[in-house]
Amino acid sequence: MNIFAGLESTVKKNCPMADYTWYRLGGCADWLICPTTTAQLQTVLKRCYENDMPIHILGNGSNLLVGDAGVRGAVVKLGGETFGKYEFKRTTLTTGAAVDLQKLVQESVKKGLGGLESLAGIPGTIGGAVKMNAGGRFGDIGTSVQSVQVMDMEGDIFEKAKPELVFDYRQANITASVILGATMDLMEGDPQELLKMVKEVWIYKKNTQPLDMRNAGCIFKNPRGLSAGALIDRAGLKGEKIGGAVVSEKHANFIVTEKGCKSADVKALIEKIQQKVKELFDVELELEIEIW
Ligand code: EPU
Repeated sequence: MNIFAGLESTVKKNCPMADYTWYRLGGCADWLICPTTTAQLQTVLKRCYENDMPIHILGNGSNLLVGDAGVRGAVVKLGGETFGKYEFKRTTLTTGAAVDLQKLVQESVKKGLGGLESLAGIPGTIGGAVKMNAGGRFGDIGTSVQSVQVMDMEGDIFEKAKPELVFDYRQANITASVILGATMDLMEGDPQELLKMVKEVWIYKKNTQPLDMRNAGCIFKNPRGLSAGALIDRAGLKGEKIGGAVVSEKHANFIVTEKGCKSADVKALIEKIQQKVKELFDVELELEIEIW
């Protein structure tokens, strides 16, 4: 029985996930589903729920490692007009979850609206960025987000707003299955000044991160008060290699990949780093990337 009968236009069976992740690694998802309307998404979630099918929500695949064995169940990627639109009204930005974060960084700067410029260079969709409170040393997205629209597995839609909505370091208290969109409060600013900030953030990143190599951003969260990159560096692990996975020479919290790399190589290197850092500094490094 095809549990997605009637949704054929949005469903692919046995879909290679490498095509959807920045690492370009990993096996097939049993199902990849790309709903473009709220009604389609409701049907997909209900069918998965009723059939006990596990579900994963995919954004830009930029902070994600998919295992070589692939993903069992359904991977859902929002797209199309409904989830891909955004609108500025004075200083309020309302956006769908599938919109590209960098697109909004650019658009808001052009309009002289501040708040997102600190996120320059962080790849991701709005859904993914909100879910993990994407950010870096210059700021995070949670500072600007006022509310999120979410859907649960039964297809019901809710809104969660501050102060109930709480953002913390690389996390948000959003438990609903799918983020549909977000509303942000931006601040009036000078487009030239904002553009200058964007350029500064980019230059900083270019100088300190291996942006020209295949990577998934920082692998580990910074432990409270410490830098994961600095710890891995001090452990002497820069350049450490397993198969095609290498600890970046430029920033030790990045694992870059070479031709022929397998997902298992990256996983093995992650474990090696965790063990060594634990052994030397008694610090347990927690993953920042998601592993499916
Ligand atoms: N450092 C080293 N060796 C290294 C890397 C870093 O000694 O190999 C030192 C640096 O010299 C610096 C300190 O560690 O003194 C912190 O490094 P950095 O300023 O690069 O920042 P980070 O804490 O490593 C954070 C975010 C990045 C974000 C940058 C810049 C986390 C885990 N990392 O990195 O986010 O791009 O600040 O804003 O929150 C990401 O989320 O994927 C990511 C890359």
